[in-house]
Amino acid sequence: MKKIRQIKKAIIPVAGLGTRMLPATKAIPKELLPILDKPLIQYVVEEAISAGIKEIILVTRSGKEAIENHFDVNFELEYLLERKGKKKILKSIKNVIPKDIKISSVKQDRALGLGHAILCASHLIDKGEPFAILLPDEFVLNNDSKNDFLRMINCFKKEGKGQILVEKIKNNETSKYGIVNLDNKKFGKKENLKITGFVEKPLAKSAPSNYRIIGRYILPHEVFNYINKTSSGKDGEIQLTDALNHIVEEQTNLEAFLSKSDIYDCGTKKGFIGANIALALSDKEILKYIKEILRR
Ligand code: UTP
Repeated sequence: MKKIRQIKKAIIPVAGLGTRMLPATKAIPKELLPILDKPLIQYVVEEAISAGIKEIILVTRSGKEAIENHFDVNFELEYLLERKGKKKILKSIKNVIPKDIKISSVKQDRALGLGHAILCASHLIDKGEPFAILLPDEFVLNNDSKNDFLRMINCFKKEGKGQILVEKIKNNETSKYGIVNLDNKKFGKKENLKITGFVEKPLAKSAPSNYRIIGRYILPHEVFNYINKTSSGKDGEIQLTDALNHIVEEQTNLEAFLSKSDIYDCGTKKGFIGANIALALSDKEILKYIKEILRR
């Protein structure tokens, strides 16, 4: 049977507890925290749609309904803004999701890890169909018109190998992230390299590389079988990286795709402020205001 190479569906897990951003995330989902004037989740949904994704599946939990509401119509607000002639603001809240894009949600009843969250959406991905995963707390600020995610999809179409976005980090940061083993190979002109293993949060001295996984994945359908076979770790969570490790052990090709963007890990205070500053600096009026503040 010919393998499918089109990527039409993206799973966006939003059922985590966001403990690193407490107390901000006690009542407000982390995914709704704003970078300037738009919530994180909207950026990632737009990133997916701009790369050709036609169906978005949110994996959510009770108490996070505000995320689904953000993509829903708010008739009262639209009516009011229309009547007041506030066209620009009206435009910003209307049709957040284009009409030809389907958005649905499934529930993860307990935050049992990223692998478990992905499995909760498996029934919405057709047999044999490859799919994408985007983690909304990773803010990917593209430096050119072709975004990393789109380039990953194009690469999958050409080569049929799973793609996982990575960025180079400082040696002392490996203990915070999932790190890929590249068998000491270097990214030269090539934008991707074969992954031979994954290690969750290794200390610098035992890290197989200093390339960390960023939350953008293009994966073959078989991943679900591997997550199904993955038992939960010591914290009771089913980790996606454990399942990916099983895949590479069995020689299914997965590649690390090197990002050309600026990445901000908005699950942390530092990354969240960084993303806000980066966008603020690109807005002339706000930049002027920031300069004023810094002169005080
Ligand atoms: P993170 O581990 O960064 O998010 O998961 P978290 O668990 O919400 O945050 P901390 O570590 O407690 O601060 C990355 C993405 O995966 C989702 C999260 O909502 C986030 O968007 N996720 C994580 C789930 O949907 N379910 C889970 O069980 C875990």
